Amino acid sequence: MPPAPPPTILVFDSGLGGLTVFRETQKARPDARYVYLADDAGFPYGTMPEEALITRILHVIGKAIDTHAPDLIVVACNTASTLALKELRARYKVPFVGTVPAIKPACAQSQTKRIAVLGTQATVSREYTRALIREFAADCAVALVGSPRLAAYAEAELAGVPATDAEIAAEILPCFLDEERRRTDTVVLACTHYPLLLDRFRRVAPWSVEWLDPAPAIARRVADLLHDRPAGAPGGKPEIVFTSGRAPSPALAHSLAKFGF
Ligand code: DGL
Repeated sequence: MPPAPPPTILVFDSGLGGLTVFRETQKARPDARYVYLADDAGFPYGTMPEEALITRILHVIGKAIDTHAPDLIVVACNTASTLALKELRARYKVPFVGTVPAIKPACAQSQTKRIAVLGTQATVSREYTRALIREFAADCAVALVGSPRLAAYAEAELAGVPATDAEIAAEILPCFLDEERRRTDTVVLACTHYPLLLDRFRRVAPWSVEWLDPAPAIARRVADLLHDRPAGAPGGKPEIVFTSGRAPSPALAHSLAKFGF
């Protein structure tokens, strides 16, 4: 019998933040065929009204299913997952792995029981996120920090036009609370763009904290779901698709090459 073809995994985000999830997923299943879909024509999702965003996500993903016939879809975007995962699963048969704020592990590992959730303004205000806090953070003080600019700063960083330290610091400083002699010791990176700026966060942070990036856990979940598709030899070059149809600038192409594109 000829060997089974490698699974096709579609990794989806509003922009390039999902690359932080893609790189971990590719480590877990290097044999898979990857299509990375950036809905940059809709970026940023964090400021789009909910109804319009759900309609857009269903449409973009529906089209990608028709074009690429993926075996599994990673919604590598908290803003999309916390809003549309339920509808996506109801409408399409393909398995979805979502990205939602890692509040449970953050509270479990926090020593001071003071954590922050840093995401888009949309993600931190969603009922989905509030429900996670009610369920898993009863013994923790949780600061919800919605950033209007960090995802765009991460895109700019990859395009070779980084934001200044002062601009980055202004977005992350509300995470750092020191009250009742308990300091924030864990920050949940609740937007997939933010690990792209992690070195910069560390540099401007007023004190050292654990930054929780959910990508390794997402990659493990993908590997679990594909356990019946035995891994073969490492696959070929991943494909990247921009819904805007744009061609990356030379600076962006250089950054994308570091992710294997
Ligand atoms: N990468 C996205 C997330 O994880 C959001 C960025 C945006 O489009 O606002 O939430």
